[in-house]
Amino acid sequence: MVDVAVSAMADWAASGTNANTGGFFAAADACDALLDSTRSVLGEFLGADAAGICLGANMTTMTMAFTRAVARTLKPGDRVVGTRLDHEANISPWLIACELSGAEHVLTPFDPKTGRLDMAEFEKLVNDRTKWVAITGASNLIGTMPDLKTVIALAHKQGARVFVDAVHLAPHQPINIRELGCDVLATSPYKWYGPHAGVMYIEPELLNSLPVAKVRPSADIGPRRFETGTPNFECIAAVQAAARFLIEEKMQRVAEVEKSVFAPLLEGLLDTRGVTVWGPHDLNSRTPTISFTIDSMTPDRVAQELAAKKIAVWSGDSYAMEVVAQLGLTNSGGVVRAGVARYVDSDDVKHLITTVRGLVSR
Ligand SMILES: Cc1ncc(COP(=O)(O)O)c(C=O)c1O
Repeated sequence: MVDVAVSAMADWAASGTNANTGGFFAAADACDALLDSTRSVLGEFLGADAAGICLGANMTTMTMAFTRAVARTLKPGDRVVGTRLDHEANISPWLIACELSGAEHVLTPFDPKTGRLDMAEFEKLVNDRTKWVAITGASNLIGTMPDLKTVIALAHKQGARVFVDAVHLAPHQPINIRELGCDVLATSPYKWYGPHAGVMYIEPELLNSLPVAKVRPSADIGPRRFETGTPNFECIAAVQAAARFLIEEKMQRVAEVEKSVFAPLLEGLLDTRGVTVWGPHDLNSRTPTISFTIDSMTPDRVAQELAAKKIAVWSGDSYAMEVVAQLGLTNSGGVVRAGVARYVDSDDVKHLITTVRGLVSR
């Protein structure tokens, strides 16, 4: 978490304004103002109408609540199109909604060699029965960024709405929801130097009309109809601070810096005999996230060896179980995943490559 977000959380907790929304006294006014200003900063960060910005616990919980509402609008014969590039948080909730409603759930494959979404197959799967397309902005495992604009245009042409999981995209690329034209977009501030929380933009008309599960006295329109219970105000103060930090940093600059740190990592791993790089082998339309395996070692073992050298990587499927399945790696323990964030530098990358080469030559 970035310092300004840590301070914002502590300052809020110490401010004496810890009440709730909707009262006639100063501490209640401060809570209302915090929600309003946070929606407005997030609207600026994501290029979206603040009236559609909802706050919650995390992306998965918010997506489960969202698809619970969507399930009430689906019927047998309807279709939901997902992708095999997605994290389970954007697959399982839709599967459950389809099970509950009798709608059909299908997944668009990707090319295991290139890690790119099969657009021809996507076009075939999206038909006039399709009500929702659920797609990732970027794969959290192999970094692929699907062509969202084309996907959204194809879906809208068939009358389908589009839900974008931007959890892995948001820390690495600028996002402009107005330009993208998606109906819903979800992100997790803890991936972009904020606290553990969730943010979901829902197009305001859709937000106001969806049959969400809500208690009777809560708001009938606006984000509060989707946000169950008392907001986590101290966390929200920190979400706002993290978003302000990134607006100042400029996401385009973050993307450029990360790309320059990542390029030698990609090249170095591609050039290492005994290492297989999964997903795209180039720098186009991707995040600085790479998955690899070492011929002679399980991914968990590699992660343990790297941890001993103070290198933090993940091993397994990182909940991208469809990606790992399509790569044919389910029974061999998945992959090792390394990522570049804003605080990772070229010395870290050199250390990783040297350590991996040391493991391969053992
Ligand atoms: C691409 C992607 N989507 C969804 C999630 C789930 O987000 P949350 O932890 O906020 O539920 C993650 C978490 O790693 C992710 O990487």
